[in-house]
Amino acid sequence: MNIKNNKKILILGGGGYVGSHLSNYLVSKGYVVTVLDTFWFGNRLLKKKNLKIIKADIRDLKKISFKNYYSIIHLANIANDPSVELNPTLSWDVNVFASYEIIKKAIKENVKKFIYASSGSVYGIKKEKFVTEDLDLKPISIYNRTKMIAERVFSSFSDKIKIYSIRPATVCGISPRMRLDVTVNLLTFKALKYGEMTLFGGDQIRPNININDMSRVYEFILKKNIDPGFYNAGFENLTIKQIAKKIQKKIPSKINIKKVFDQRSYRQCSDKLLGVGFVRKYGVDDAIDEIISSFNNGKVKDNPSFYTVKWLKKLKVL
Ligand SMILES: NC(=O)c1ccc[n+]([C@@H]2O[C@H](COP(=O)([O-])OP(=O)(O)OC[C@H]3O[C@@H](n4cnc5c(N)ncnc54)[C@H](O)[C@@H]3O)[C@@H](O)[C@H]2O)c1
Repeated sequence: MNIKNNKKILILGGGGYVGSHLSNYLVSKGYVVTVLDTFWFGNRLLKKKNLKIIKADIRDLKKISFKNYYSIIHLANIANDPSVELNPTLSWDVNVFASYEIIKKAIKENVKKFIYASSGSVYGIKKEKFVTEDLDLKPISIYNRTKMIAERVFSSFSDKIKIYSIRPATVCGISPRMRLDVTVNLLTFKALKYGEMTLFGGDQIRPNININDMSRVYEFILKKNIDPGFYNAGFENLTIKQIAKKIQKKIPSKINIKKVFDQRSYRQCSDKLLGVGFVRKYGVDDAIDEIISSFNNGKVKDNPSFYTVKWLKKLKVL
């Protein structure tokens, strides 16, 4: 019988913001990691014995074998609304149509666990205070729709492989491939660099997760024998104004508010994940502190590749 090493994992999209943090983290926890990525944002992964790198596209996996991997974590998507809107057809190819080939191959090649990075945005706008996994999905953008449909493609194979669809909140904090286009990171950087933050509205609620906890969530799913299914992963529902005020407490800065009509709020409740034993350790405040110290020691600079949509436009890959 082929008993696989449960520490051997493949991360699709492991060169991105979440992936480059996660890959390094899992190697430090004793996993043997292979990253497959097109490396659109560059390759900032550390050279380590237990970290193998494959430059490839998830739309063409014919020459890639999944045979040695116990688990796959799938992060390789066009990862926000404006980037998807640059080329919706290609985004459907990457975010949805590639999913069918990936999951068929994972089943055929005997992968045990398949973990998909969906998104908390699949719920759309909800009146309910506690947005739990059993609520209807009403995605409002093309990106959100691709995430919902990919979840459905994967879960339609749940009789053949353990499928975990994680629905993360907006991630914040420091990673080797940094993103400065996500709320906490963007506002903290603006406060540090320009001494001011501009909010559009500000009363919109957004759920958040610190990148250190994001990586810990994926490790938790890899390690624990919990039921497959859908798991929210977002712990602080904050208004944009509350986020800006947290930043202002740490960085002397001005808050400018521009009036907008769009005050859509997203929330998340992650009691299901906490109920199966995940323990939260980091928050938005920790992310702000980490960004401040990385900025002060020159590690976070205004690099064009830290802004997803602008960079993809420049690369002309979409
Ligand atoms: N960052 C967040 O706040 C957040 C929140 C919820 C969900 N997610 C999801 O988590 C995942 C990772 O997000 P991220 O912020 O790290 O995004 P990212 O854009 O930084 O990373 C995505 C990675 O996938 C790679 N990639 C894209 N298309 C590919 C293809 N066709 N073949 C191979 N590699 C490809 C890119 O080169 C990049 O390295 C995404 O699926 C995203 O939708 C992210």
